Amino acid sequence: MKDFVFQNNTKVYFGKNQLQHIGDELKRYGSRVLLIYGGGSIKKIGLYDKLMEYIKAEGLQVFELSGVEPNPRHTTVNKGADICKKEQIDVLLAVGGGSTIDCAKAVSAAAFYDGDCWDLVTGKTPVTMTLPLVVVLTLAATGSEMDTGCVISNMDDRSKLGLINPQLGPKVSFLDPTNTFTVNAYQTACGCVDIMSHLFDLSYFSRQPGFDMIDRMCEELFKTIIKYAPVAIQEPDNYDARANLMWASSWALNGFLSTGIVQAPVCHAMEHELSAWYDITHGLGLAILTPRWLSYILDDTTAPAISRLGVSCFDVDAKLPPMDAARLSIERLSDFFFKTLGLKSRLSDLGIDDKNFSIMAKNACGGGELESIRPLRPTDVEAIYRLCL
Ligand code: NZQ
Ligand code: ZN
Repeated sequence: MKDFVFQNNTKVYFGKNQLQHIGDELKRYGSRVLLIYGGGSIKKIGLYDKLMEYIKAEGLQVFELSGVEPNPRHTTVNKGADICKKEQIDVLLAVGGGSTIDCAKAVSAAAFYDGDCWDLVTGKTPVTMTLPLVVVLTLAATGSEMDTGCVISNMDDRSKLGLINPQLGPKVSFLDPTNTFTVNAYQTACGCVDIMSHLFDLSYFSRQPGFDMIDRMCEELFKTIIKYAPVAIQEPDNYDARANLMWASSWALNGFLSTGIVQAPVCHAMEHELSAWYDITHGLGLAILTPRWLSYILDDTTAPAISRLGVSCFDVDAKLPPMDAARLSIERLSDFFFKTLGLKSRLSDLGIDDKNFSIMAKNACGGGELESIRPLRPTDVEAIYRLCL
């Protein structure tokens, strides 16, 4: 286990009667608010009107950036930064899923930069200052509500990159599970895969020897998703299911379960290429990749870790030889993604063929190798993409 410092500065209001505090929280940071949201779901679910009531009751002035895309674009971030500069915005309010929150995080930094926000995302220019960010989460998935990263797409050069900086973390997040009742079965499923994948990528399959506590906690979160994802799909307004998924989303990526670990976000690196080239839903890409990646890296050294997932979470018999148990674990994980959650299982089902795999594999490896419990070279990544066809 590595030495580590753990700090998370996001204050969380969790539950169905918490939104009344939003005016007070925003007021701490100023009076000019930029409300950021996506394609309109917040209006359909009545959240927009409710928020306006609370905000206006406090005499705050609201400006808007709407239309944030799933896989948010750097051009939208630039628009938001322009509004911040022109209107002297004091505080950002992001209302939506990971895409909206990520866009808002990038806006918070770009508001202090007189150039294209893409310079900040690529690291060409360092982040110096950020505007304070308040979040109302409407989709359990990314953990962006309680982490310090954002992921922005540049469709002009087919890049989707993450920017991580402690200053990007939301000051306050409102997590009301009832705001996720309207998330459809497909997005619910994709969100649940994303939560599991954060734990696979940043903790469970990249862990350091000796960090058993983290492994055990990951397994409890996996079991929570396995139990409640189908319930939320069958009964979208089941409060307990939505609440468990929402809090699991935050804990999978708020730093607690990935500290002290050499992180190896291997499926995320491979998936971000898929969304950059084909604009697919992040969680769907992860679902298609993860079982193929596990099958590809399965050998005597990786079998114990892979089999432990099945034994602890999918009723695989602990007495089986590790290789057999690992194979069964992968099969049950696939069944969970593709049968229980009903997600498409192949890239070809999404109209994706192999013509860009070679360049995508090189990009995913960032010019070198992808670290993981088994390091991957571009030729390995390309082979994994082919297994997904
Ligand atoms: O745009 P609107 O109209 O709001 O509709 C959204 C969108 O179409 C809809 N939706 C959200 N809440 C809803 C709802 N529909 C009905 N009822 C509600 N309550 O769902 C669709 C998807 O939303 P989006 O925000 O794109 O989904 P998600 O939360 O999965 O975010 C995905 C983005 O986050 C990035 C992904 O790469 C992707 O760009 N990630 C961010 C991370 C981070 N910041 O730490 C880590 C992740 O690994 C991930 O890479
Ligand atoms: Zn993710």
